[in-house]
Amino acid sequence: MHAPSSLQVASSEPDAVAQVRVAVVGLGYWGPNLVRNLHELPAAEIAQVCDRLPDALTAIERRYPGVRTAVDVADVLADPAVEAVAIATPVATHFELALAALEAGKHVFVEKPLAASSEQAVALADMARERALVLMPGHTFLYSPPVNLIRTMIERGDLGEIYFISTSRVNLGIHQSDVSVVWDLAPHDFSILRYWLGETPTSVAAMSRSCIIPEIADVAFVNLAFPSGAVAHVEMSWLAPSKLRRTAIVGSEKMVVYDDTSNEPVRVFDSGVVPRDPETFGEYRLTYRTGDIVSPPVSPVEPLALELNDFCAAVRTGAAPRSSAALGVDVVRMIEAVDRSLAASGAPVTLDGDR
Ligand SMILES: NC(=O)c1ccc[n+]([C@@H]2O[C@H](COP(=O)([O-])OP(=O)(O)OC[C@H]3O[C@@H](n4cnc5c(N)ncnc54)[C@H](O)[C@@H]3O)[C@@H](O)[C@H]2O)c1
Repeated sequence: MHAPSSLQVASSEPDAVAQVRVAVVGLGYWGPNLVRNLHELPAAEIAQVCDRLPDALTAIERRYPGVRTAVDVADVLADPAVEAVAIATPVATHFELALAALEAGKHVFVEKPLAASSEQAVALADMARERALVLMPGHTFLYSPPVNLIRTMIERGDLGEIYFISTSRVNLGIHQSDVSVVWDLAPHDFSILRYWLGETPTSVAAMSRSCIIPEIADVAFVNLAFPSGAVAHVEMSWLAPSKLRRTAIVGSEKMVVYDDTSNEPVRVFDSGVVPRDPETFGEYRLTYRTGDIVSPPVSPVEPLALELNDFCAAVRTGAAPRSSAALGVDVVRMIEAVDRSLAASGAPVTLDGDR
């Protein structure tokens, strides 16, 4: 039994629902956060932890005495007590590990991005569907209270037509040696855009530079155009003087600034421009409106706890998690489009590979 969680994420769970027995594979930088949240979650039980580095296991054992450990993932997959596997290993290993887990009949939570190519991501999604197993990519921001508040405002039409979204996700570090800043950070913004707008872009154009490590881009600027007419700009970098997690959403009725580093993460501006009928052809009269700025209250719940709770609920009920495999596939396709545009010197490309 776990200590009661202060997160109130499982208060609606029926008492009779059995805990999902999850093994966590990959205990580097991010994996221990999965272990901590699963340990605190009433809906889950840590069945095993696995890393091929014994030191990583020792660190977890010290914090969670008695936890079962394995250096070889084959031991985890052969264990009938393990119902589900949460994978937090480098991107290049996601496909192989997730495929092996699905083949072994385990439900799979795999950290973002779902896989290193859309071909791999689709193959995983197909296998999970065929075997009636949950496959959930870890798009944590889909569980962020500010992100969900903004989604509700967009859905209700509070912001009017979404004209454009501009986002900055920059910081000093951590430079990855195996993936570009796009594969590392874009899953966050692309999953949020896909979630807010409910559509994938028709066109993607990108520019990047590898400033520190040759061939590993550490700054990228991406422009996306969506079927609804909305356009977006995503700036991402591991090379920046200060940490920014700032998104501006500009609609025809209202504008929003979402700053994930602020204790007022969502600010809604009742501002806009109203074009009046032109008096003569080509002459526009514009009225600028600057009204109230409102900062709605936002729940302090840790998104990762909500995310893992949704995974456990999906395992128990069979319902698709909010961070669905289909969304994970779309995000990988968006990242691939960025790479194709970069290879074409920044030319706009479609998600289907056309120029
Ligand atoms: N959701 C988020 O906000 C978030 C944040 C950071 C990282 N991530 C994701 O988490 C994943 C891991 O990133 P990280 O920064 O923790 O990487 P990391 O390199 O720090 O850790 C990876 C760990 O996996 C272990 N590992 C690799 N292959 C293994 C195998 N076959 N069997 C067992 N263990 C194996 C390594 O020994 C290492 O300890 C990535 O997919 C990354 O994108 C997500």
